[in-house]
Amino acid sequence: MDVVSHDVLLVGGGGAGLRAAIAVAEQNPGLRIGVLSKVYPMRSHTVSAEGGAAAVIGDDDSLDDHAYDTISGGDWLCDQDAVEFFVEEAPREMLRMERWGCPWSRNPDGTIATRSFGGMKNDRTWFAADKTGFHLLHTLFQTTLSYPPIQRHDEWFATRLLVEGGRCHGVVAIEVATGKVHAVLARAVILCTGGAGAVFPFSTNAGIKTGDGMGLAYRAGVPLKDMEFVQYHPTGLPFTGILITEAARAEGGWLVNEDGYRYLQDYDLGEPRDEPVKRSMELGPRDRLSQAFEGEREKGRTIEGPYGEVVHLDLRHLGEEVIDQKLPFVRELCRKYEKIDPVEELIPVRPVVHYMMGGIHVDMDGATPLAGLYAAGETACININGANRLGSNSLTALLVFGARAGRAAAEFAQGSSDPPRSVLAQALEEEERLHRGVLGRSTKGGERLASVRKDLLQTMEERAGIFRDGEGLQTGLSQVAELRGRYAEVALDDRSLTFNTELTHYLELENLLDVGETILRSALERTESRGAHQRTDHSERDDQDFLAHSLCYREEDGASRVEFEPVTITRWSPEERHYGD
Ligand code: FUM
Repeated sequence: MDVVSHDVLLVGGGGAGLRAAIAVAEQNPGLRIGVLSKVYPMRSHTVSAEGGAAAVIGDDDSLDDHAYDTISGGDWLCDQDAVEFFVEEAPREMLRMERWGCPWSRNPDGTIATRSFGGMKNDRTWFAADKTGFHLLHTLFQTTLSYPPIQRHDEWFATRLLVEGGRCHGVVAIEVATGKVHAVLARAVILCTGGAGAVFPFSTNAGIKTGDGMGLAYRAGVPLKDMEFVQYHPTGLPFTGILITEAARAEGGWLVNEDGYRYLQDYDLGEPRDEPVKRSMELGPRDRLSQAFEGEREKGRTIEGPYGEVVHLDLRHLGEEVIDQKLPFVRELCRKYEKIDPVEELIPVRPVVHYMMGGIHVDMDGATPLAGLYAAGETACININGANRLGSNSLTALLVFGARAGRAAAEFAQGSSDPPRSVLAQALEEEERLHRGVLGRSTKGGERLASVRKDLLQTMEERAGIFRDGEGLQTGLSQVAELRGRYAEVALDDRSLTFNTELTHYLELENLLDVGETILRSALERTESRGAHQRTDHSERDDQDFLAHSLCYREEDGASRVEFEPVTITRWSPEERHYGD
């Protein structure tokens, strides 16, 4: 078996992984750094982020305002010490990106341009037109090229963590091009594999976001935190789920129902009760906007489209010049995927799964409870997003916490010994499982990979969508148990070793099943409604019992179990959530 050794290994080559790799190299240029990614880094999902990244810059803004917006937007489930660190570090990271070459959009006087974003009191979202993720990822990628100790393993898929003596010593990975299995040893591993939107049928996420890091950590005994909080973005294109950025609403776009009526004025979006006018409207929090869509659907005021119910996003009044200057990608997407021009036509949109607030349980350094294992980016949960992430906080967070995890992992690696050779036995066992157990399996069972996956996604949408209840969640768990049985019977048609994407999909499905189960289990145990977790059978927020993070563990026998751990409150006592003042 091929054995590769690094001091620090990044699993995932998106924004968080690349930022962490740079931080390791800066911290200690003598460390050998590996970046292992199942796709070429520039194909990571960070590339498709559109609207922007939040950080305080203007004189009319403050770190406290950014912290408060984040905490109240998160319905008081954010750890406030982490939020305070985040807002303070955010402007520094953004300026660092500027120095590394990120082309932030500018005001006419040359200062950094910012736009408003949902739930943010002040304009603090930096942007690069509506292709912010693309520019950010390019900037990070080209910066990594200037650090020779960073060695990449592109299109390698990690299938197992190597764990011995209560410590993580690396991963086993399959090289997609050749099917060769490698033991990748490391003193410290940082999982930066992104979220898990692909566990739902309609998602803005790339199909590659299959919760790989979450699955790896969970199966190694690390708990997944706050998994019940799944963010729906209110404006995705029907069928494809492609994101129409919140920036379109920040620039003045309206959401209208079948009567052309701005229906959000009829819903409680969290503005102060004594306000006569609902000022946040289209820039209200994502969870409330997605719930309002369901309200319109119930009232029969949505529009029936070829791919289900939609409402309309109206940008026509913005005019061609603003659309071309500020929202060129929105226009391009509408033309390509809907065959419409938003300068003259209404855009059909619907809520679409967008972001996992939950993820691998880590502290502020990105450290998991398993020594030597770290996580950053969407796959990790610190938690600064609480029950509802504010748009544009996550690009900044992957920089801030990617860098912090990189520094912490570098320090850990410096002070620890090389992995014991005995872990190679686990790598050989994994090679045997992949080559003989999966590729060599008899086809007699005849269960189809695609049908198991399709049924899982359907289950998640039906049982753990925008609104949930105990009975549905319990049914969902039984369905996932049944799907696990069917998964064990799946036989692959492609037995080859070269670019066997059927094998990759098979391995991804194991991660999706684990993620799906943890979402359902955590949602079942949280018998309250908060942010993106809305239980029709427990419709109130319950701070008495649930001002707490859920931690979902995998038991020895494979069953899931949830414990709760208190939220860290520093300066902002829980209150009713409100926006718009
Ligand atoms: O709508 C958007 O551009 C999304 C941004 C975000 O989720 O941070």
